[in-house]
Amino acid sequence: MIGTPRVHHRVTDSTNERAKELADAGAPHGTLVTADEQHAGRGRQGRTWTAPPGSAVLMSLILRDLDERHALLPLAAAVAVCEACEEVGPRVKWPNDVWIDGRKVAGILIEGRPQEGWAVLGIGVNVTTEAFPPELAEIATSLRLAGQNTTAATVLADLLAGLGRWIDAPPDAVLEAWRSRDALKGERVRWADGEGIADGIDDSGALRVQTDDGPVTLDAGEVHLLI
Ligand code: BTN
Repeated sequence: MIGTPRVHHRVTDSTNERAKELADAGAPHGTLVTADEQHAGRGRQGRTWTAPPGSAVLMSLILRDLDERHALLPLAAAVAVCEACEEVGPRVKWPNDVWIDGRKVAGILIEGRPQEGWAVLGIGVNVTTEAFPPELAEIATSLRLAGQNTTAATVLADLLAGLGRWIDAPPDAVLEAWRSRDALKGERVRWADGEGIADGIDDSGALRVQTDDGPVTLDAGEVHLLI
């Protein structure tokens, strides 16, 4: 069952690190690691993830028996996050940042050992954060700042229920739900080697972009958008 057993840390370095250790030691599918505070929270592309103590959902879920049917897991996880904060109009910035009014409220980092059949799905959601450090002030938000008065415990419960629905959902359903929340469609995007207008995702989850030289598709594992 998703979320059971659960290991909660008052403080840890990174719930993804703790979950990877547990997965390596044989912890079952659905094992959940949570924390009130992380001092070395990890983000995508080597970035860090910070949140004031007690203000965020900080969770990592061990998933086993993943196969090609789960190729859209990063997108499915973003849809589950959106459903936990639907009342404040979440959108997904490809591939799986969740934005409210153009500011990031949640991030997803999937790590693992596919060859050993497991992955760790790490999710951070800013819930009651009232203020961000200067470098994040213009680009981050929280559910409270966006007008959703809730608690981290409630968001975690809703998120786990959503993940239970979406992790094994058919790809067509994941794509449809993701596309209905696409934050970038029609927007100008830039990456290291080019720029253009985002034109949705193809059925593999790659971002389609119309450039001056014609259409291109960007793979989330290889390309980092500079926005
Ligand atoms: C990103 O947007 O760059 C991904 C951020 C993922 C942050 C979460 S917080 C819980 C889990 N533990 C980590 O160290 N990272 C993820």
